Amino acid sequence: MPNKQLPLFNDSIFPIANASSLAESGTFKDSKRSPIHSWFKYPAGYSNRFVADIINRFEIGAGHWIYDPFSGTGTTLICAKQFGINGYGVEAHSFVHWVASVKLFWDFDYTVLEVEINQLLDQAKAIVTSKSQHTSIDGIFPELIYKCYHPETLIDLYILREFIIKEVNITPIRELLKLALTDTLRTSSAAGTGWPYIAPNKNTGEKPPKNAVSIFSKTVKKMYEDLFYIGNTKYSSETHNILGDSRHRQTLEDHQIDLALTSPPYLNNYDYADRTRLETYFWEITQNWKDITEQFRSKLMVAATTQIVRKNFDVETALSLDVKAVNAWVYEYIQASVLELSKRRLNKGGKKDYDLMVALYVNDILAVLQETYRVLRPGGHFCLVIGDSAPYGVHIPTEKIIGELGLGIGFSEFKYEEFRTRGGKWKENPQRHSVPLREGVVILRK
Ligand SMILES: C[S@@+](CC[C@H](N)C(=O)[O-])C[C@H]1O[C@@H](n2cnc3c(N)ncnc32)[C@H](O)[C@@H]1O
Repeated sequence: MPNKQLPLFNDSIFPIANASSLAESGTFKDSKRSPIHSWFKYPAGYSNRFVADIINRFEIGAGHWIYDPFSGTGTTLICAKQFGINGYGVEAHSFVHWVASVKLFWDFDYTVLEVEINQLLDQAKAIVTSKSQHTSIDGIFPELIYKCYHPETLIDLYILREFIIKEVNITPIRELLKLALTDTLRTSSAAGTGWPYIAPNKNTGEKPPKNAVSIFSKTVKKMYEDLFYIGNTKYSSETHNILGDSRHRQTLEDHQIDLALTSPPYLNNYDYADRTRLETYFWEITQNWKDITEQFRSKLMVAATTQIVRKNFDVETALSLDVKAVNAWVYEYIQASVLELSKRRLNKGGKKDYDLMVALYVNDILAVLQETYRVLRPGGHFCLVIGDSAPYGVHIPTEKIIGELGLGIGFSEFKYEEFRTRGGKWKENPQRHSVPLREGVVILRK
């Protein structure tokens, strides 16, 4: 635990050791190394250094409002709060939203917190030591969880879980410990639980089990240090972390926002709902695919084929005529891509619904652009970190689609700044084979 006489570090509120290059702006690499941000390694998260750069570039400061329509685990909101800027974020995935809400609660009495944490960690260790030999966890978790852990580790994780839920009475401290245990889940696993896919078959069973209690204790202490470090600054801004759907109107007023900054789901068939399966199974929030669909998948904008029930759509009309009304070029381009995909899928083993995914994605992104336009003040900017994609070799230049839709809605200017080209290649197009995909930021000015 830090000594309370330590000097405060208010002059460097973004202490990013060896901040990575512009190329990594769309990744979680910087955030993973930064206080608070690192509390949950969200692979869909982006760089807090990039957020800070954008805030500085557009001269956003105290009294201003920043909006993130896909706020995830809170990167934008945390940065805004650190700068004393008002933040408003919307996230539709309730577990991810919860993570952000814990990361954004800093109103602790640090002296009390230190004492409480030390006591609770001592108690937790004692309980695990006394109970681990006699605790049975058969039939508690879905099969996947058993496959990912050495049995001894899982028993300790379970005892810690029960201790936190039943014995920790102060809500913010309980939530903090829950997040620490959530973060411990991946680091204490014996299987391949690196993101995005869990690989229980890679369980390294024979190796000595990981010590979950010690990993958990270290994580809690690190959280305390981050909070101590950050909490000594006086923050007077407002932060609203909304569990909701950014395709629809929330509580923001017209022109309330000075800067909108986000990273929307990419059009790359990434199933956000499934990514937190390990965590939501462990906490018994979900037990199977159906639960994950009902609680998360059905709430998110379409970016994956797992969200689509084909019989509910007609491929000819899936792309909304609203898109046509806003920008005829986008409509024609996307409609042609959708029809091409509906042909190509028939010759592919998986017959994936990429055709519908593309159409529904564009409908959804349009709704978010329109709502963001409404809440942005004239002259304000909307920055979207985005990558393009090429499902079944049909290239969708997402950045151009978003930019053109923005212009159609009424934004006065559209720019695209590239961060990097990405691993995936746009292979199946005969004229353009092996063109790399790219990632960058779309900047729209109202
Ligand atoms: C690329 S991630 C953003 C991550 C965020 N920048 C961070 O650093 O944690 C996109 C997020 O959008 C969320 N999302 C998807 N559809 C949504 C919707 N309709 N409304 C709000 N959030 C949504 C997903 O759950 C996911 O967390």
